[in-house]
This record gives sequence, C-alpha cells and structure tokens, in this order.
Amino acid sequence: MSNLNFTPFPEIRTERLLLRQVLLTDAEAVMKIRGNEEAMRYIPRPRAKTKEDALAVIEMLTNGIKEGKSINWAISNIENPLEIYGIMGYVNFYPELGKAEIGYMLHPDYWGKGYVPEAILEVEKFGFEQINLQSIEAKIDPRNDNSRKILQRNNYQFDRLAKKEMTFQEEELDSEYYIKHRTS
Ligand SMILES: CC(C)(COP(=O)(O)OP(=O)(O)OC[C@H]1O[C@@H](n2cnc3c(N)ncnc32)[C@H](O)[C@@H]1OP(=O)(O)O)[C@@H](O)C(=O)NCCC(=O)NCCS
Repeated sequence: MSNLNFTPFPEIRTERLLLRQVLLTDAEAVMKIRGNEEAMRYIPRPRAKTKEDALAVIEMLTNGIKEGKSINWAISNIENPLEIYGIMGYVNFYPELGKAEIGYMLHPDYWGKGYVPEAILEVEKFGFEQINLQSIEAKIDPRNDNSRKILQRNNYQFDRLAKKEMTFQEEELDSEYYIKHRTS
C-alpha cells in the first residue's frame, strides 16, 4: 500500500458524477444526508441534526484526508457539483494488511438510480491502482439488503458474520463482512 497523501485532493469523474472533496460550504447538504433517518438506519453513527453537527462531520472528514487516515468523496452531480447525492470513501486504512474499509451512503431521494454502483467502480480503481490496496473490505448491518446487493453485484465475497460486535444506542449489533481482493 502506498501514497496515503491526498493533497491535492484526487477528484474522480464518471459519466454522471463528480466525486469531489466535501467542503464546509456543503454543511446544509451534509446535514440532509447524515441527518436522514432512513439513510442512517443501518449506520451506527449519531445523526447530524444541526448545521453544527454537519460541520463537525465535515471537519472529521477533512482531518482524515489531511492525516492520510481516511478519504471520503462527495458524490455530486457532474452538471451541478453543488448538488450532493451522498458520500463515499475509504473510512479506515489498515496499512500493515494493505486493506481499506469502504463506506457509502446516499440521501434516499437518490436511491435506485445506480449512483453508488457507478461510483464504486472508480473508487475501487483508485484504491487498487493509486494506493495499491491488496483488498477492500465492507462491513454491513445484516438487515441492510440494499447495501448487500451493491457488494454482491460487485463481486465482493462474504467473509464472516460478527455477532453482537458493537453496541449502539443500547442495541447490540451484528456485522457482516465482505471482501474483494485485487486481481492483478
Ligand atoms: C445502499 C445504497 C448505497 C445503494 O445505492 P444505490 O445507488 O441506491 O444503489 P442501486 O441504484 O443499485 O439500488 C440498490 C437497491 O436499492 C433498492 N432501492 C432503490 N430505490 C429504493 C427506494 N426508493 N427505496 C428503497 N429501496 C430502494 C432496490 O432494491 C435496488 O435494487 P434493484 O436494483 O434490485 O432494484 C443506498 O440504498 C443507501 O445509501 N442506503 C443508506 C445508507 C447505507 O445503508 N449505506 C451502506 C452502509 S454499509
């Protein structure tokens, strides 16, 4: 694994999307996404209920990029990059294993349009080709059928079920782990 220096920020273009850095000026959009109950249902993080909460999320994402500990992109409309559909990226790196954990979410207004499938291909390409990952891991709540579909359609293999792996808001949660290895 190499080059966890994300300056300048590596923007990615796909047919319909511009994957760009999440900026403080995106606070309103981040609040809508990270504050949405449906979108956050299977994400064990506190909901962003206020603009201040959203700013704190953006600051955390920015620090991760600066420190080379994570990288998240705003999934935005290529025709109008101020319109953010969601956020996606590598939320954790495990340099000693050559592995990263991928995460993604969209506001429900943008579900079912194939945006995450479109973005994930390029984010994986970035991971395997630019930072030389050996594998990409994804962790889902076993109830999250939509997320499992994304992984299965992208050839992630089921790795393991971790029972009662964490507690969030007094609920013990299981996690399913999926993994994709580099092929060349
Ligand atoms: C999981 C998620 C990223 C999928 O992204 P997407 O770009 O909508 O993916 P797709 O367009 O391929 O749609 C996937 C499935 O979502 C379901 N779906 C689509 N629109 C939907 C809607 N309006 N309501 C409920 N489910 C819907 C469909 O089952 C679809 O599968 P299909 O292609 O067989 O019809 C998205 O649903 C999401 O952001 N969920 C909330 C956040 C989350 O759970 N993230 C993953 C954490 S591990």
